[in-house]
Amino acid sequence: MPERSASPENEFFHVLKTQQFDRSLLDGLCELTTTVRRYAKHREGLHFLRGLLSEKRAMLYFTQPSTRTFLSFNNACQILGIQTSEIRDSATSSEVKGESLLDSLRTFSSYVDVVIMRTKEEGLAESAAELFDRIHRRVPIVNAGSGKDQHPTQALLDIYTLERSFMHRGGIDGKVIGMMGDLKRGRTVRSLSYLMKNYRDVKLVFISPPAFRMEEDIKAHLREHGVTFTETEDMEAALPSLDAIYITRIQDEHDVSGESSKVDLSRFKFRVEHLAKLKEDGVIMHPLPRRDEIHPDVDNDPRAKYWRQERNGMWMRVAILTKIFGVDRYLQQGSLLD
Ligand code: NCD
Repeated sequence: MPERSASPENEFFHVLKTQQFDRSLLDGLCELTTTVRRYAKHREGLHFLRGLLSEKRAMLYFTQPSTRTFLSFNNACQILGIQTSEIRDSATSSEVKGESLLDSLRTFSSYVDVVIMRTKEEGLAESAAELFDRIHRRVPIVNAGSGKDQHPTQALLDIYTLERSFMHRGGIDGKVIGMMGDLKRGRTVRSLSYLMKNYRDVKLVFISPPAFRMEEDIKAHLREHGVTFTETEDMEAALPSLDAIYITRIQDEHDVSGESSKVDLSRFKFRVEHLAKLKEDGVIMHPLPRRDEIHPDVDNDPRAKYWRQERNGMWMRVAILTKIFGVDRYLQQGSLLD
């Protein structure tokens, strides 16, 4: 098989923030994710996937809590035959000896072929990418969540879930998408909002208490790109107009002095009685983990897509890794497809 390296000529190298994706990349990634899923339905297909990147090694550097993103990346690596190393607590790394984060990251680049990282520091993935672009061993960086700022691979799996959910209704174009919860500090809704300029006539409805409104930088970006949005505190009134509602948890880990507990959140919880207000083909999403913002009884409704969304994350991350290493081209039209 020809060269399988992540090369600087590869347009798809670091994955840092969602502003880097245009419509053709998004459509291509969604198609690739579906192709990967079809391969994974057969033993032979799984065997083929496992050989695709079996000479590669990945570093999973996750110093913020993570269940889904860590496990889905780890499993995506396993599916492709990539070996993984991990650090999940900075207390176990040389940071405690006073090593700078950038020096630690540079060290990972000496041993592995891709660094997948989640940290509380905003912009660290970008600084690491700038550093890696200058040093001898140029290794791709994947941002798996950077503080309150961005979570690009989550946004990609969210796009895939939305596109699949609207598959028979013209995709995301023209849809009304509600985002509810902590829009101020939720990196998932921020990253997803940046992607909306790629879709025609999408309308966003931001539903949150005043304390957790979407930040001005995102709103300015939406205005600049002609994406319509409204803001409300009234979920019940907004529900009938929505094609999808993307619900998020309150990000109280970012509280300075317990300010979240002073906010009345009672109107921002989705209960079984709200299902009647949502369109028959409406979509309910959540990046998870949830607390009480979606009642577990809602899970039984076919419009609840969050568990499927979670699984889509693993397939989308397989697709992303194949694209980073340029092996996606071997997957386009395989004979193993059903
Ligand atoms: C999200 C995150 O970490 O930003 N979780 C995830 O990756 N699926 C959302 C959250 O923690 O609320």
